[in-house]
Amino acid sequence: MEQSLARALAKKIETYAEYLRRKHPLLEMAQHGTFPPEGVATYLVNARYMVSQTPGHMSAAARRSLELGRPDLAAFFLRKRGEELGHDRWADSDLSVLSARFGVVPEDQPSRHIRDMLHSIARVIDLEPSRYLAYTLFVEYLTVLLGPVWTTALSHNCGIPSEGLTVITRHVELDVGHVAEELRELDALLTIENRVHYFDVLYASMRYFELYCDELYENYRSSPVAAE
Ligand SMILES: [Fe+2]
Repeated sequence: MEQSLARALAKKIETYAEYLRRKHPLLEMAQHGTFPPEGVATYLVNARYMVSQTPGHMSAAARRSLELGRPDLAAFFLRKRGEELGHDRWADSDLSVLSARFGVVPEDQPSRHIRDMLHSIARVIDLEPSRYLAYTLFVEYLTVLLGPVWTTALSHNCGIPSEGLTVITRHVELDVGHVAEELRELDALLTIENRVHYFDVLYASMRYFELYCDELYENYRSSPVAAE
């Protein structure tokens, strides 16, 4: 009996999300109401950077898929590209809400770990574009799994207005009902020869993302609000 590869990847993401939810001090800090607006602004700068890279990566992945004789994969990436265009404006609008409310000036550079993650993804796309699917599943599904608990902590415990968190809440709304359908679609596109590589892309993305969460925690744990 053939096992669903997409389902196996999704299960790893579920385990990882559960690990972050239970063990990562960043979420705990938000739940205790001590993650400051400056930290949320930094988070939004990084979310905006990740989202802003997606259309370019989807185009590159579609081009490479065609070169490798995978028009089905190219069509998937082009459709996704259309769906993702302009989502960075949600983060822009969130950042304006935060700066109007709290007067925070966001960092101008995204985290080194997020930049490293996206550089590694650009190489993956060039090498074998179907491996990019492991990353897109990671980001989308992690948002669905952790977005609600994260935004609830930020709005209820840290006093961040929900109009300043739309880049997360809108993505959750878009993707939450479509996970099963997305996994079926991925199973038609993933290839068994790349199985090990899909898991490698997933584990690498998880490491980068956790380093980024560690950095957010370390940078804001001793902020004036957290020290109160
Ligand atoms: Fe998006």
